[in-house]
Amino acid sequence: MLRSETASAAQPAQNQIPGSIPSSAIQQARFPDGFLWGTATAAYQVEGAWNEDGKGESIWDRFTHTIGKVKGNTTGDVACDQYHLYPQDIALMKRLNQKSYRFSISWPRIQPTGTGTPNQKGLDHYKRLTDTLHEAGIRPFCTIYHWDLPQALEDHGGWPNRDLAGYYADYAGILAKHLGDRITIWAPFNMPWSFTYMGYGVGAVPPGRANFGDFLKAAHTVSLAQAQALRSIKAASSKATVGSAYGMAPAYPKTDSEADRAAADRYHAMNNVFFLEATMHGRYPKAFVGEPPYELMGFRPGDEKIMLAPLDWVGFHYYNRRIVSDAKPERAGGGSFSGTEIEQSSTARDPYTRFIAAMPAEGPLSEAGLEIWPRGIYDLVTRISREYEHPIIEITESGCSYLDGPYERENGRIPDTRRIEFFREELAELARAIADGARVRSFHAWSLLDNFEWANGFTERYGLIHVDYRDQKRTIKDSGHWYGKVAAANRLDV
Ligand code: FCB
Repeated sequence: MLRSETASAAQPAQNQIPGSIPSSAIQQARFPDGFLWGTATAAYQVEGAWNEDGKGESIWDRFTHTIGKVKGNTTGDVACDQYHLYPQDIALMKRLNQKSYRFSISWPRIQPTGTGTPNQKGLDHYKRLTDTLHEAGIRPFCTIYHWDLPQALEDHGGWPNRDLAGYYADYAGILAKHLGDRITIWAPFNMPWSFTYMGYGVGAVPPGRANFGDFLKAAHTVSLAQAQALRSIKAASSKATVGSAYGMAPAYPKTDSEADRAAADRYHAMNNVFFLEATMHGRYPKAFVGEPPYELMGFRPGDEKIMLAPLDWVGFHYYNRRIVSDAKPERAGGGSFSGTEIEQSSTARDPYTRFIAAMPAEGPLSEAGLEIWPRGIYDLVTRISREYEHPIIEITESGCSYLDGPYERENGRIPDTRRIEFFREELAELARAIADGARVRSFHAWSLLDNFEWANGFTERYGLIHVDYRDQKRTIKDSGHWYGKVAAANRLDV
């Protein structure tokens, strides 16, 4: 039975499934005319063609080619082969009434070693991709960096090396110059906290370093890079608008104590708005106990001016929430991570932010082990609206992993009821935030199709479309058909 159907029974659903949304809210939900229904992917997760047409090696190529790093010993060498199959994928988007496609550009396709003359074949690929999207009436939404740093730049010190801000701004300027006639929506970084913290702070993803100072330096370089890129994009393309694709999780204090409430605020500052505050106001938010450790960050006088570059709109993802508590200094250190940054540690992560952030399991868990909490998107969207003077908001990702595959007895149909349920309840909460005044103009489901889920390889399936990796066959899941109807109707009871 669907979770929301449970809601119409005599017992309110909330008593049965914590966090569940009543079916009346789903029936009433409406989205504005022109709302941009979309899906999202990332280059390394879908493109394949890892060494074709002059592409250089990325840190993800290096990582996945190292035995022992990825579940199932798989790589993104072929992934969904979207590099070649994009016309077919765009035809499927059109069939599902999609209006926006958030994809990322692979930096080492454009500059194989991260600097210097652009590779024409790489640029041509993205010209063809975006032309095909326009022909299908779909807005190309470009993420400039979704984690696949050219390996040569990691060999120069990676993101903790401040020089990368300049190299990155050059790369962004090249994209705007050559693709700015086709792309007007640019998001510099996907989840900057995640790739700096998990890549340099704890070493769960490439380049696999575990040093808090390296994380702080990487984060500061990324702040500078974000603003420098905004300026170089706008200098090269007058039509460009620049926003973000931050990962965010609403934070709730574990208890009502002042210490836990302050810890939840530090979580929000560090994990949700660190880069947003940097670009909007040229300063870092109160993420630390005491002053930010400027020296450790490599902060120089005048940097507050460099990192200031107000965004045209604010984009962020929502997957799940955190329950946050204060940590005693002696419990600092450690923290283990997997997938979409599930934190499974009872210790605080560092002596500076000094909080413990746990993912609760009060609501049901998806097959990736993430708690489903539809209300989180309402709390997050309304909080960001309040704190940043009601910006235009793009929801850049949200989704869930369930392993449903083709059912032979029903001619290969894929009845992924739990995914429909997930989106219905979450989108009802998003509609409520819009009804309460939030200026949300898009929603991008993660993902268009099943793909290579980073260190979890092919063990998770987030797609609205199923991919059989043996022959690249695409099959629209029931959730995909449902999402297509929602996109046409701007309502959820379809
Ligand atoms: C997000 C990432 C995206 C994908 C989803 C499941 O954290 O941005 O690439 O892995 O999680």
